Amino acid sequence: MKHFLARHPAASAQRRHTQPTAGAAADGGRAGWTGWADWLMGAALAALLALPLPGAAADAYPSRPIAMVVPFAAGGPTDVVARTLAASMSKTLGQSVVVENRLGAGGTVSAAYVAKAAPDGYTILIHHNGMATAPALYPRLPYHPLTDFSFVGQVADVPMTLLGRHDLPAANLAELVRYIRQNPGKVNLANAGLGAVSQLCGMLFQKAIGVELTAIPYQGTAPALTALLGSQVDILCDQTTQTLPHIKASRVRLYGVTTTARIQALPDAPTLAEGGLKGFEVKVWHGIYAPKGTPPAVIARLNGALRAALKDPAVAARLADLGAQIVPEDKQTPEGLRTWLQSEIEKWSPIIKAAGVKAD
Ligand code: MLT
Repeated sequence: MKHFLARHPAASAQRRHTQPTAGAAADGGRAGWTGWADWLMGAALAALLALPLPGAAADAYPSRPIAMVVPFAAGGPTDVVARTLAASMSKTLGQSVVVENRLGAGGTVSAAYVAKAAPDGYTILIHHNGMATAPALYPRLPYHPLTDFSFVGQVADVPMTLLGRHDLPAANLAELVRYIRQNPGKVNLANAGLGAVSQLCGMLFQKAIGVELTAIPYQGTAPALTALLGSQVDILCDQTTQTLPHIKASRVRLYGVTTTARIQALPDAPTLAEGGLKGFEVKVWHGIYAPKGTPPAVIARLNGALRAALKDPAVAARLADLGAQIVPEDKQTPEGLRTWLQSEIEKWSPIIKAAGVKAD
């Protein structure tokens, strides 16, 4: 606000009226009254200028780089979507959107950080289903996804794939389930921590086959996939945005996709439901958030840049290559994200509670 006050023409007018006039006591007080009136007007103007001016602030926005906080490791599925969007949004906004990876606690470290950041549009969050699952998983979550954020819009949906290390002695889903049952306590499953979609998918898989696996948590599925490729872990459920090239190069075993229908990127891969896990479905969705109280005009700028990015042919091509599907326009809105998040909290909370999975 200081810099605005210094530049505004009315500001210098106000500076000229900081004192009553010198002749205040002469002329039976008339000149004095005029002086005081001028002074009061000046003071009132100064007070007005000191108030936040949302319109002016929003016009100037953004005047410096914006941090897009990513809750998981660089190079992983969320990071890939973030960097694709950030490059395009930077062009529309005329300022760099810089990706910042803040890792920990299955994505909740990042969400807590953004919830507490200044609501000025310079710190935003990209997150996935973890926004909806965290309240059920973390009894002491330091934020609420519905009340501590302003919503920018949804981005894209991404299928997941259930993978095994290349040397796992199970060629398909039925063989995998048999192998797990025949080797109790021996098979482990990598994930990106409580709140990650890899954890959600793994939890549903264990429920579906009625066997508990040893979980090996990482700070994202980028390091988890590296461990799978090196045969240090046995199974990983992860998004096509990261797994497609490895599946196509046969560097991992593919046991199925987590969507209800087969996907275009892997037309020969059966769904897990087809493979025998009835009703199995996990679809990853992404949203962009700002701290609660971010001015509506700033949200509108961010949303405009998001929507422009989703229409950018380079973004569309990149996301399609990764197996992601841009969400319909009604979901790209702040309200589209908010209502979807609410429905996802209502969907997943009872499932997670019934599974008895939660942080200590
Ligand atoms: C990642 O970006 O590493 C993943 O989205 C983590 C996950 O949720 O599985």
